[in-house]
Amino acid sequence: TASAREQAAGARTLDELRERLAAFDGCALKVSATQLVFADGAPDARIMIIGEGPGADEDRIGRPFVGRAGQLLDKMLAAIGLDRTKVYIANVAPWRPPGNRTPTPQELALCLPFVQRQIELVSPDFLVLLGASAAQTLLGEKEGIMRMRGHWRDYLCENRTIRALPMLHPAYLLRAPLAKAQAWRDLRALKKAIDHAGVV
Ligand code: URA
Repeated sequence: TASAREQAAGARTLDELRERLAAFDGCALKVSATQLVFADGAPDARIMIIGEGPGADEDRIGRPFVGRAGQLLDKMLAAIGLDRTKVYIANVAPWRPPGNRTPTPQELALCLPFVQRQIELVSPDFLVLLGASAAQTLLGEKEGIMRMRGHWRDYLCENRTIRALPMLHPAYLLRAPLAKAQAWRDLRALKKAIDHAGVV
């Protein structure tokens, strides 16, 4: 069977990528999950949001960020004038890890070519990386999310760079409400960049 990289690279559209990922047997997460959770939102969005992986609600419904963390994400987006018609949402792990554990670096590495291709096909102007799994996997850094959050990075995508902002994950904010002040600061920085670029 072709490697994840070959499989992902061969996809010319997001629909093809979804089909190829659904047929991909290289990551064990697929075995225990109910279904693939590929994306939500607008494929032509200028802003792409990437989380960690599906929880129980997402696994059942088949769309990212539909549970409690997703409701908070919707509120965070609304606070800066965004909603799911203006963003595209995906995860670094496309299948729910057993018992909602954190996906391992190995699992994330196996699925990485697919999310990289997903970013290429959406080709957004801004990437929002929610939590350590998304930020570390996509930026290739080992730094903790508490240090990375709020610091813009350049994500290399084909022949260009995409501005990427690591932020705290809404599931973390539900457990640590005091950290919402930091999330709010980062949301305002995102809003400022979006307004400056005039992309919404
Ligand atoms: N948390 C995530 O990181 N992604 C989801 O889709 C849901 C919860």
